[in-house]
Amino acid sequence: MVSSRACLFALMGFGLLASACSNDDSAANPNNGGNGPGSNDGGAGGSSVADSTVEAGTSPDSTVPGSDGSLALAGTAQSPPTGGAAVEAWLAAGWYKQWAAEPAIHASRSPSPHGFNRIYSNQVISSAAGGTSPWPTGAAAVKELYNAPTDTTPVGYAVYLKTQADSAAGANWYWYERVPVTSTAAPHDANGVVADGLGTTGTPLTICVGCHAAAGSDAAHTPTPGGHDEVYTPVSSNDAGASDAAADSSGSGAESGTNDAATVGTSQTPPMGGANVESWLAGGAYKQWHSEPAIHASRSPSPHGFNRIYSNAVINAGAAPDAGMGAWPVGASAVKELYNALTDTTPVGYAVYLKTQADSAAGANWYWYERVPVTSTAAPHDANGVVADGLGTTGTPLTICVGCHAAAGSDAAHTPSPGGRDEVYTPVQ
Ligand code: HEC
Ligand code: HEC
Repeated sequence: MVSSRACLFALMGFGLLASACSNDDSAANPNNGGNGPGSNDGGAGGSSVADSTVEAGTSPDSTVPGSDGSLALAGTAQSPPTGGAAVEAWLAAGWYKQWAAEPAIHASRSPSPHGFNRIYSNQVISSAAGGTSPWPTGAAAVKELYNAPTDTTPVGYAVYLKTQADSAAGANWYWYERVPVTSTAAPHDANGVVADGLGTTGTPLTICVGCHAAAGSDAAHTPTPGGHDEVYTPVSSNDAGASDAAADSSGSGAESGTNDAATVGTSQTPPMGGANVESWLAGGAYKQWHSEPAIHASRSPSPHGFNRIYSNAVINAGAAPDAGMGAWPVGASAVKELYNALTDTTPVGYAVYLKTQADSAAGANWYWYERVPVTSTAAPHDANGVVADGLGTTGTPLTICVGCHAAAGSDAAHTPSPGGRDEVYTPVQ
């Protein structure tokens, strides 16, 4: 394991490289190529994670997000994707219309600047709407924006998604809003986009978090009973009409308030948060991914020891020889099984990552997780062996994981495998 000083050096030395990668390589689209997930999904029936994911995709129409393996990009029935273009496509698909909804369009409640609107809460929020604890990871809401209470077509949308168990005062929520391009109520770009990103910086921080962080803090910031932890108006399942029941009965019935892609992951993407990731690893969905044929000694400069790497369909598609060297799309993910010996059959630990936005932001927009044996002295870890668990913005995900992975593909010493770039060292073809 490199020292944190060396990691920081690597980060500083190579940090700009990943974000300099082109992001528009169409050949990297996971829809392309015969090596896509379709060839991989056959026989996957044993995995409960994969099963519940497929079942989550049964409504409201036959367009099943993720049938191409790009669930993180497309979102799920209970979770918007992140990134403006992906969010717009997901909104257009209408999944959120199955969520617990206010019965009708209403004037905004103070201190809302959102005008006439109608709010939809996903199952994570609606099933916990009576409580006061922080919302679980995966909490999401959609607010349809209207010009008038009698209109039938929204003129814009506000969307948020909680990405980690700790709200971090709004920083760990994804925020998106689009208003009419003629709107003068909020600053927006040429497409009407007011905010599009985590609440760490820019308008998501200054506008959205700037007000939503006060939700439930006092009477003036409690327009609706139960508002707290960034959420002003939680719509409970009981408030909703038939739409909620429709969502519950549309699939297998296995779906519960917490059994959504944000917390259980999908067949192609891990969830975020250590406990969620461990359950997802145990479910074995990643074993259907493209994998190296066997356990091997780590390739320099890897500190991971004996291991076997699995790449999801997003990376696999971009690893094709003709796919170019663009940045990986959102949803790129890999699992590395860690072993004590070449002949072992049971991993002693795992390293996992997931790209959460189109722009790697030099590793900050990737989620990083690693667990090693509790007896390991190779890397700093907690009492459970966890080395890293979080976005590459801070702590060990930044100093250890990003500190080295940011250099992937930057020179011969950091190219253990062909095609390595944009945080990925060994893309499995
Ligand atoms: C000045 C305060 C304020 C600002 C700024 C603000 N909101 Fe809100 N927002 C509210 C209030 C209050 C509600 C509840 C309104 C209601 O019930 O009519 C709300 C509702 C919402 C909802 C529906 C779920 C809920 O929590 O009630 C979403 C989604 C949302 N806002 C997203 C955003 C996004 C994204 C931004 C940044 C572009 C933003 N908001 C900026 C005050 C604000
Ligand atoms: C000193 C450099 C270094 C550090 C630190 C490091 N890695 Fe790696 N990692 C590598 C290399 C090199 C590979 C490819 C190894 C191979 O092909 O055998 C790799 C492979 C991986 C893979 C498999 C996919 C791929 O990109 O090849 C995952 C997942 C991974 N690392 C996650 C992590 C996580 C999470 C952390 C932080 C806890 C971390 N790594 C820390 C160098 C590093």
